[in-house]
Amino acid sequence: MKISVIGTGYVGTVSAACFADLGHEVICVDIDKSKIDLINTGIPPIYEEGLAELLKKYAGKRLSATLDYDFAVKNTEISFICVGTPSDPGGNIDLGIVKAASANLGDSLGKKKDYHVVVVKSTVVPETTEKVVLPIIEGHSGKHIGKFGIAMNPEFLREGKAVHDFLHPDKIVVGSIDKRSGDMVASLYSGLECEVTRTNLRTAEMIKYVNNAFLATKISFSNEIGNICKKLGIDTYEVMKAVGRDFRIGPHFLNSGAGFGGSCFPKDVRALIGKARETGYEPQLLNSVLEVNEEQPYRMVSLLKDKLGSIKGKKIAVLGLAFKNDTDDIRESRSIPVIKELLDNEANVSAYDPMANGNMKKLFNIKYHDSAIDALRGADACLIMTEWDEFKSLDKEFDIMGRKLVIDGRHMLAPGKDVEYIGLCW
Ligand code: UDX
Repeated sequence: MKISVIGTGYVGTVSAACFADLGHEVICVDIDKSKIDLINTGIPPIYEEGLAELLKKYAGKRLSATLDYDFAVKNTEISFICVGTPSDPGGNIDLGIVKAASANLGDSLGKKKDYHVVVVKSTVVPETTEKVVLPIIEGHSGKHIGKFGIAMNPEFLREGKAVHDFLHPDKIVVGSIDKRSGDMVASLYSGLECEVTRTNLRTAEMIKYVNNAFLATKISFSNEIGNICKKLGIDTYEVMKAVGRDFRIGPHFLNSGAGFGGSCFPKDVRALIGKARETGYEPQLLNSVLEVNEEQPYRMVSLLKDKLGSIKGKKIAVLGLAFKNDTDDIRESRSIPVIKELLDNEANVSAYDPMANGNMKKLFNIKYHDSAIDALRGADACLIMTEWDEFKSLDKEFDIMGRKLVIDGRHMLAPGKDVEYIGLCW
C-alpha cells in the first residue's frame, strides 16, 4: 500500500522505515528540511538500533521524504500522524502540533478526489481523534467523514529497541470510525505474525495510556515495596523474583530503584491524570505512582547524607545520566533531580555517562568525564543512576575513590565487591 508518515521523530521515522520493510511505499513529511534531506540520503535523523540499515536499504526506492503535504497525500492512500505530544506547563497534553498536522492534512485532502484514511499514531488522550483531529480535517478539507476515513493506531515502541518492537509486536491495536478505514490500517500489518485488536477510536487511545500507566505503576509499586523491604533488612529483588513467578504477575518491570524517566511514562501518566480530572474523577492511584517516582531520587541523596553527614564540598561521582541504558536521552532522567539536590547542598559533582554527557551539559555546569574511573578519582562517594551494563563489572575502579562508598540506584553491583555498598531498596 502507499503510506505517508507525518513527522520524522523517533516514532515516525521508525514506522516509515518498518512499513517500507513490510513492502509498502512510504513518503515521509516534515516541516524540517534538514530531516527531509537526511532521510532522502538514507541517514536517520535520530539514533535507533537497526534504523540506519533500513533507511540505507529503502531510501530513494520505497522510501522518500518531502516538505510537501499535497504531494504526499495525493500519492498515498493512508496518512499516519506521528508528531510529538508534549506536556503543557500544567502537565496536560499539548495538542498544538497534532492540530497543525491535522489542518495541513485537511487542506491537502480537500484537493484530492479519492478516498484517503488519516491515522493518528501520536499518543493522544481519549476523544482526541474524534473530537479534535476529525473536526479539523473536516473543516480544512470541506469533506465529511465517509469521503475519507479516520483511525487510531497507537505504538508501543521502546526507545532504543523501536525497530525490533515494530517488527515483532506483541499487540497491534487499530481503532477506527468505520470498518473500511480499520480494514485498510489492519491490512498494513498483514506481514507480521500478530493478531490485530480492532476497536473504536477512544478505546484505542485509552489502551496506549493504560499500557504505559500500568508499567509505570508496576515500577512505583516495586519501589514502594523496595522502600519497605529496605527498612526491614529484606532484599526486595529476592522478594520480586519469587513474586514474579506468579503467571498473573509476570517477572518484568519489577526492578526497584531510582524510578522511571523518559519521554513517555511520566508524561503519559500526567496526561491520563489530567484527562481523568476533566471528567471529575480524581485518580488517587495514578497520583501516587508519580509521587513515589518523584521521591525515589531524593532517597539516594538521603542515604548519602546518612553516611557522610554534610555533603558540602564533598566530591560525589554520579555514574549514569541517561534515563535508561543504551540511549543518550536524558528526558525526565532520575539523575536530574539527584544532581540538582547535590548542587543545592553544595557538593562537588563529577559525572560520567557512556552516551549522555553531551545532553546533560546543556542542563548542569558540573565536571563531566569520559570514563567511570575518571569520575571516581578521589570521590567521597558514588551514586549509580542508570542501568548501563558496563557498571556491573566495575570493581578495581573503585580503589581510586577517596572513600569507597557506593550507593546503587539500579541494582547494578553484585555482592562481594570491596566497597562500602548501599542499595537503594535492598
Ligand atoms: C516506554 C514503554 O516501554 C514503551 O512501550 C512506550 O511506547 C514508551 O515508553 P521507554 O520510555 O523507551 O519505553 O523506556 P522503558 O525501557 O520502558 O523504561 C522506562 C523507565 O523505567 C526507565 O527510566 C527505566 O530505568 C525504568 N524502569 C524500567 C525501572 O525503573 N524498573 C523496571 O523494572 C523497568
